Formats: sequence, structure tokens, C-alpha cells
Amino acid sequence: MRTQVGIVGAGPAGLLLSHLLHLQGIESIIVDNRGRAEIEATIRAGVLEQGTVDLLTEAGVGERLAREAFFHRGIYLRFGGGTHHIDMQALTGGKRVTIYPQHEVLRDLIRARLDAGGTILFEANDVVLEDVDADPAIVFRHGGKTQHLACDFIAGCDGSHGTCRSAIPQALVARYERAYPFAWFGILVEAPPSSDELVYASHPRGFALLSTRSPTLQRMYLQCDPHDRVEDWADDRIWDELRARTASDGWVLEEGRITQKIVVGMRSFVAEPMQHRRLFLAGDAAHVVPPTGAKGLNLAVADVRVLSRALERFYARGDRAALEDYSRSCLRRVWKGQRFSWWMTTLLHRGAGDSAFDERRRLAELEYVVSSRHASAALAENYVGLPFE
Ligand code: DHB
Repeated sequence: MRTQVGIVGAGPAGLLLSHLLHLQGIESIIVDNRGRAEIEATIRAGVLEQGTVDLLTEAGVGERLAREAFFHRGIYLRFGGGTHHIDMQALTGGKRVTIYPQHEVLRDLIRARLDAGGTILFEANDVVLEDVDADPAIVFRHGGKTQHLACDFIAGCDGSHGTCRSAIPQALVARYERAYPFAWFGILVEAPPSSDELVYASHPRGFALLSTRSPTLQRMYLQCDPHDRVEDWADDRIWDELRARTASDGWVLEEGRITQKIVVGMRSFVAEPMQHRRLFLAGDAAHVVPPTGAKGLNLAVADVRVLSRALERFYARGDRAALEDYSRSCLRRVWKGQRFSWWMTTLLHRGAGDSAFDERRRLAELEYVVSSRHASAALAENYVGLPFE
């Protein structure tokens, strides 16, 4: 087999890249070790930046999104017993917060690729990259046979635990990492929304977040210990904590049957550079953010926007300049996303070793954010998404 761009990973980065390349007349083949049903059913993030929505719409895959997503003006910050609305639409000149689950984005992209005759090889195992220096190929097991996919370029879109990153010689990669002394306990709940927009709550008992998936299904998160297991959290304990952390006068938390429990790890990670010869990393394969602020998927989208444009310049004009600048160009924005995700995380969570001073300082920062138009606007412009590079 041969294609122009071999893509490892059918997540947001890999699928959107393949679609954007197709619109430019560039061929690609995607391989993923998971099956289509698993990819389309795995519940992940839910918040899209305005630029992500615009890009999906311009690329012709925003039709269902326009019909089914929730469009919010902003978010609520709840702390010290009070609730404060951050009106992001007003603060950013019209940009909105779009709630449209990641797996729905993936369903739309998979359908678009398959309808256009694109190739996605699901359940492709034992992926190995060969000769990314000069004559790249992706070798894998598929349908009981070993397959060899020769390509001009390889896009490593296989997530933080994927194999593509390791195809760059270790000596050439700088790794920047930060761990956090907490994690999120996430649940899906059969209930109506408790609030018209997302609630980010900072409480002495820890952080809580009320998000939504549909009019009848809600996503809620609680700060927990990173060593906690799903079995440690009986339903009663979850509701006690959620009620305590989100309490506000006259407001009622809508409860219901819990249909999923997961522990979401928290770390910040960047690998630099994001490219080596004919291999380009995109999304979580190159960088990971803690979930507060919902930047992960959006950073992946920005990466493949840069990569698809660089590949287009190469194939149209033989011009390699944008390809050579890929990593530098992406990382400028990636680091701003890292900074924001770190800031939202430390603003809203209680750290294990926090002193009384740290607590007071955090409260002062929250009060500053909700009382200063400049500080609210800084939160808003990052949350709805900084401009693409
Ligand atoms: C969701 C996740 C986030 O990290 C966030 O900041 C907001 C919402 C969610 O899963 O809905």
C-alpha cells in the first residue's frame, strides 16, 4: 500500500487532518488499533473553542453540530458561597462556548471520511514506524496480515500513550512535564441540567464541575486523590461531595442514576520539537494538558490546521518552509494553552500541601477574576480560544 500522508490514530487530530487534506486533494490513510464502535462511544471532552467550531463548519462537518450543540454565553464561577457569571460572549466580541461532545465530532468526521471514499483501517495492531528519516512506512497487523503502508509523510496522532513519539530519537526530544497532586472523578448522570451554563466550583473540600452532554445526560466532576479508584466512590459519597462543593442559596443539584464513573488523571506535558524529518506529531502525542479549561481537543485541532496548510504548500508548490516551521508554529500556541490550563487548574483546586496563606491567595485571585473586567476578559479570551497562529 502507498499513500501521501499516513496517519496513526483516528482521534480528533488524525480524523480532522485526513479530512482537511482530502479537501486539498491530498490522499491519506488512517490506522487505529481501536474499532469504530469503541471510538464513537468513548465519552471524552465536551467543550469546543469558537475557532474549532468555525473550522469544522468551514470544512463542511459542522451541520449536526449547528443543530445539536449547546451554545453558551459563558460559564459560572462558584466560590465563597457566591455564583459569578463570566459573560464570555460580551467580553470577547461575540465568541461563544460550544458544548458538543468529542465523540460526536469523531462520528461526524468518520462519516465524512467514509462518505468521501477515504480509508480508515480500524483494529490495526502492532503499529511500528519505519525509516521516518527518509522513506517512511507504517507497518501493522490488520485482518490477520502484516501490512506495509509506504508514505511521503507520517502524522503521529496516536495520543499520549501512542508509539509515534518514540520514533523520534530520544536525544533530540526535550520533555517538559508537571504532575498535580489531584485528579478528577467523573460521572455521567441521567438527569436534566442543574444550570443553564457550566459551573466551575472552588470549595474548601475541593473543586467540582457541572457540565452537560444532552438535555437528559449530565457530566459532573469532583477533585479527588490521584490514587482513588472507581470502587472508592459509592454513589452516596459522590452526591454528598457534589452537593457540598456546589452549594449555593436557593439552588438545587439535579441528581439521577449514575451511568459511568471514571478517574481522569492530571498532568501537563510537552515534547519539543513536534517533528522529526518526515514525522509530524499532533495533539496529545505531542502535548497533554490537565482537563480544567477543556483545551486538549482544541489544541489538537489547531495543530492539524497548521499541518494541513503546510502539507498543502508542499504538494502545491514544492515549498517545504511551512513544514519545517511546523513545530515552532504550533508550540507558540500550545504553550499558551499549557499556561492557561495550568492557571485554571491551580486557581480552582485545593493543593494537597496548600497552607492557609495559599487558600487566601487563591480566594483573592478568584475575587479579582470576577470583579475586574480585564481579568474576566483574560479568562474569557483564553477559554473561547486564542486566535490560530
Ligand atoms: C468538560 C470537561 C472540561 O475539562 C471542562 O473544563 C469543561 C467541561 C466536559 O467534559 O464536559
